[in-house]
Amino acid sequence: MEEKAQITVNGQTYELPVLTGTENEKAIDIITFRKDSGCIMLDYGFGNTGACQSAITFLDGEKGILRYRGIPIEQIARNSTFVETAYLLINGRLPTQAELDKFAKSFTDHAALHDGMLNFFKGYPKDGHPMGLLSATVCSLSGYYPELLKPEPSDEEIDIIAAELLSKVRTISAYMYKKSIGADFVPPRADLRYIPNFLHMMFSTKDKDYSMNDAVVSALQALFILHADHEQNCSTSTVRLIGSSWANLFASVSGGVCALWGPLHGGANQKVVEMLEEIHDAGGDIQKFINKAKDPKDNYRLMGFGHRVYKNFDPRATIIKERCHQLFETLGMQDPLLDLAVKLEAAVLKDDYFAERKLYPNVDFYSGLIYKAIGIPTKMFPVLFAIGRMPGWIAHWKEMKTDPRSRIGRPRQIYTGPNVRDYVPIEKR
Ligand code: ACO
Repeated sequence: MEEKAQITVNGQTYELPVLTGTENEKAIDIITFRKDSGCIMLDYGFGNTGACQSAITFLDGEKGILRYRGIPIEQIARNSTFVETAYLLINGRLPTQAELDKFAKSFTDHAALHDGMLNFFKGYPKDGHPMGLLSATVCSLSGYYPELLKPEPSDEEIDIIAAELLSKVRTISAYMYKKSIGADFVPPRADLRYIPNFLHMMFSTKDKDYSMNDAVVSALQALFILHADHEQNCSTSTVRLIGSSWANLFASVSGGVCALWGPLHGGANQKVVEMLEEIHDAGGDIQKFINKAKDPKDNYRLMGFGHRVYKNFDPRATIIKERCHQLFETLGMQDPLLDLAVKLEAAVLKDDYFAERKLYPNVDFYSGLIYKAIGIPTKMFPVLFAIGRMPGWIAHWKEMKTDPRSRIGRPRQIYTGPNVRDYVPIEKR
């Protein structure tokens, strides 16, 4: 039997259809509600509002479940590669070997940047935040590749744009790093796969090739996979919202980069390491910082804890913590910040304030320590998150674009300003 919900406003009852997802998630369909009742739904932060139906990623925040296209994240992180995961997210299924080879080759074909784009790097301040430059350069790809800007691209054309974007973003990011340290750019190599090529462009120099380490490649691979999609998060919703106006993929993703930059979202990985450094430099008094985070008069938050959706544990954080310890062990490295992070996590998990609010370590808590161990500078951490999230943004843009139910995103509001009043000329004010 078809499920219905009832809402009564001022004595008038409205019957609304209830939709059920493939994992039994429920939604009340309010598409006609405003037209019928004159009321809108108010939902700060969209904590209860669905903006689309999506077949890309399933997550259950209570049970700590995350699946890409139905496949558990644990299996993907263990067995797949970032490029294969990108194919899965964008195309809805795992590729055959031939399809994967073709997809991977297109990354090599698109890795180099247009000569004109190199001027962006010259003009950008050396100490400017790389996320600003990343957003600008991604958006500007639309100017350099106008042939990719068809209003209604076919699936095949979207694949070409996706490869262009996924491949170039890696080159752009590495060049940004080189620019920030005043070093020469190192061009991509056709014989290297996605992650080794990125590490090569980041850390090789004119005179010396980066010494590739399997443990580093594997840790970075896992991080990119774990960041690849997370359904309707802040940056992905931004990409969808921008794309809903029929803006092109480059413009939409450029907005996603800006949304991701914020410290409550992808910028948190940078802030976690800065927070750990601050605690360390202040003598390591963890409790002092926990108390500060608990003080209702203080806006301070412990970075890397809490999540809008996960209320038990973040499955990505569990894997990343494990990978972080593994990497340090394999490389024979030690970092006082890792010891501090472990102590901070243990203290937070014992604390009632965090337990009552269901605040657990999130994806950003240990990822920064891995980036730091690899030699990535702190400011670049959100950039690495952005590279990882690229397949998700592309998949959502594509899904939105090909869903006939998509409409321009345009939320409503409740107006709380002054009632109508007359304009007063300046001499009479
Ligand atoms: N430290 C201390 N207190 C916190 C934290 C934290 N990290 N996170 C939430 N709280 C408290 C809030 O103060 C609030 O307390 P109150 O009920 O007494 O007012 C309560 O927990 C609920 O917090 P909200 O802000 O309402 O939760 P929301 O779902 O809106 O925010 C968010 C989620 C943004 C992730 C939040 O937990 C946070 O700011 N965490 C720190 C930043 C961070 O790590 N962000 C990365 C998230 S993962 C990602 O986006 C990739």
